[in-house]
Amino acid sequence: MNRFFTLLASTFVFATASAHSVPESQSRTIEMVADNLKLTLMVGDDNRLYQLGFGDADKTVAIPDKTPAREMEFLPAYGNGVITEPAIQATHTDGNTSTDLHYVSHKCDTLSNDVTQTVISLRDPAYNFFVDVYVKCYAGSGMMEIWNTLRHDERGGKVVLYRYASASPLLKSKEYWLTQFNGKYKREATLEEERLGEGIKILDSKLGVRASQYRIPSFMLAFDHAAREREGEVFAASLRWSGSFQLAFDMDWNKSLRVITGINPLGSQYYLERGATFTTPAVLWTYSRNGKGEASRRFHRWANDYAVRDAAKARPVLLNNWEATHCDFDEERLVGLFDGAREIGAELFLLDDGWFGNGEFSRDDDKHGLGDWEISTKKLPRGLSYLAKEASKRKIGFGIWLEPEMVNPNSELYNRHPEWIITQQKREPILGRHQEILDLTRPEVQHFEWQVIDNTLRPNPGVSYVKWDCNRYVTQPGSQYLPAHEQSHLLVDYNNALYRLMDRFAKNYPDVTAMLCAGGGGRVDYGALQYFHSFWPSDNTDPLGRIKIQWGFGHFFPASTIAAHVTRMGKRHLKMAIDVALSGTFGIDLALDKATPEERRQLADGVKLYKNGICDLVMYGELYRLVSPYETPLAAMSYVSKDKKKGVVYLYQTEDGNVPVVKMDGLNPDSRYKVKEVNLPAGTAPRFADATLTGKELMEKGLSNPLTAQFDSAVLQLENID
Ligand code: DGJ
Repeated sequence: MNRFFTLLASTFVFATASAHSVPESQSRTIEMVADNLKLTLMVGDDNRLYQLGFGDADKTVAIPDKTPAREMEFLPAYGNGVITEPAIQATHTDGNTSTDLHYVSHKCDTLSNDVTQTVISLRDPAYNFFVDVYVKCYAGSGMMEIWNTLRHDERGGKVVLYRYASASPLLKSKEYWLTQFNGKYKREATLEEERLGEGIKILDSKLGVRASQYRIPSFMLAFDHAAREREGEVFAASLRWSGSFQLAFDMDWNKSLRVITGINPLGSQYYLERGATFTTPAVLWTYSRNGKGEASRRFHRWANDYAVRDAAKARPVLLNNWEATHCDFDEERLVGLFDGAREIGAELFLLDDGWFGNGEFSRDDDKHGLGDWEISTKKLPRGLSYLAKEASKRKIGFGIWLEPEMVNPNSELYNRHPEWIITQQKREPILGRHQEILDLTRPEVQHFEWQVIDNTLRPNPGVSYVKWDCNRYVTQPGSQYLPAHEQSHLLVDYNNALYRLMDRFAKNYPDVTAMLCAGGGGRVDYGALQYFHSFWPSDNTDPLGRIKIQWGFGHFFPASTIAAHVTRMGKRHLKMAIDVALSGTFGIDLALDKATPEERRQLADGVKLYKNGICDLVMYGELYRLVSPYETPLAAMSYVSKDKKKGVVYLYQTEDGNVPVVKMDGLNPDSRYKVKEVNLPAGTAPRFADATLTGKELMEKGLSNPLTAQFDSAVLQLENID
């Protein structure tokens, strides 16, 4: 049964019989606090739910003595007086297109020392139509997670849900500066900031099975001026959904900004059965009075505590073969690469695309074989177990690439089941990267995709790592499985089925480390990431491009999740490629067997440095962005350990020019730190002389920066010596 749809008993009890339940008569205001972020709601005399405040928890929120204007409704529903952008729109079984939501009750539960959850029950006074608003507050990180459930007990058929936002809070400021994380293939998560004007601004995705080709479902909003790193009010939000999304920013003449977030309503009307519950994805909100740096750190803290799989488990340094070989390899070449991996100290070999398909469907390029998950007898006659054993002999792990959701028309699978693909009837199927998407709403496809995973991993216990790819998006959202009147369920049901599959994978293979990938960073969101240890941010591994891409994702996702591999793309200095990879989950993806001894030595030094000094800071440190590559020719950032005893600083020249001084952040002002430049190729003199400085000096006076030329880079380690 769909994780998001639970059939309920036919009689509803809408005032929950919990010990913490607050009946209507006892409470007119509801306050929810997640550390520094407070949401204050009020039940008006008309019984509707209004928002009084959303923001700084220290600010007193005035409680009006009369019912606020309808524009202040917390979850505006279409059709009975709401004239602004609605969060909820439903057509009832008798054809009435309006909904009105009235407060019934609410309850607060303490789920742990850190987490409280409030559920506010609303219903339409004229219909058995119910919405429960969930607000989960994480005190430690100051994260508020909000979602809704919708259900009905109306006679006479299905209620049609046209809009079902996850949340629609109101913000109040003089000015709003919106940062989106825009991009495309090889240019993911590029920052784009603008001042919002009156009217509605929509950021969205219509891609169905991966949220991003253009942007990720995350954004930041700064008050009064463009977002700054260390000061000013900033909200950061992220939708936990991998499918099409919509983020709508609707500013009225009064400068109130309603932010409606959720699944994209375009073509997604949902026919809700009587007794079924529709659960929206959750949206995460956090708030900072001290600029966007703190907002990012709050996201990272929450993610490590609640959203990333095994956040504290070390990620192996891996050697991937994609850039080195694409689909062109054999056993001998791979085993040769294992030797190289071992020599430089890598811990795992990740075999990418191209290991499957036979005969005319041999996966020798991206036009063939996807869907036929039998090992290639031509390339790998002794199978995956042999490779895993050879890797293990060399004391390295072995991982495998999978793309279970897709099929090439040139495959046995497609020949057997052309009806399994997502496409529109009476239209010529449109290919993307020469492939089609399997319709995961179909039970046989759900079974098949599980078998792809299980049949690969179960007989090969030596496989300890999976890279899960998704190389195209939906362009013809039609299902040959769903009935005509439920075609618009496709993308919602697909993503819920996908999460069930990912969950099954994570639960059945708890020791297999997993990387989320979608033709680069096409599926980076906290809906999917809960089943993975890291994600592949981009196929752009030219360090020059990667600096900004990793910078962008780092606004929401901790460094421990951002896979960063050294490649030869762009043919930059190897040192720069290594320095950039050292700021994420370090790995390598190049033809080691063709590298010079000097290059291999440099890589081995990089691995050693990562394992012996930097890895802990990437995994558990706190990110401070110091100098932005969007404003200067330099990108500078650091990770500082939580006890402030250690740090690592990265400086990358993205263009010619000089930023003379770089001020550190997040250090203990009174402690003394030894500053040492590391990762210097043999014979290179340090540009930064060893020094001992106090945290105050490092943060207030800063470090002189000698770098001036494009492609120069430096990594500095800070160590407290008190
Ligand atoms: C896209 C990924 O981003 C690449 O790293 C690689 O795995 C290819 N797919 C393989 O087809």
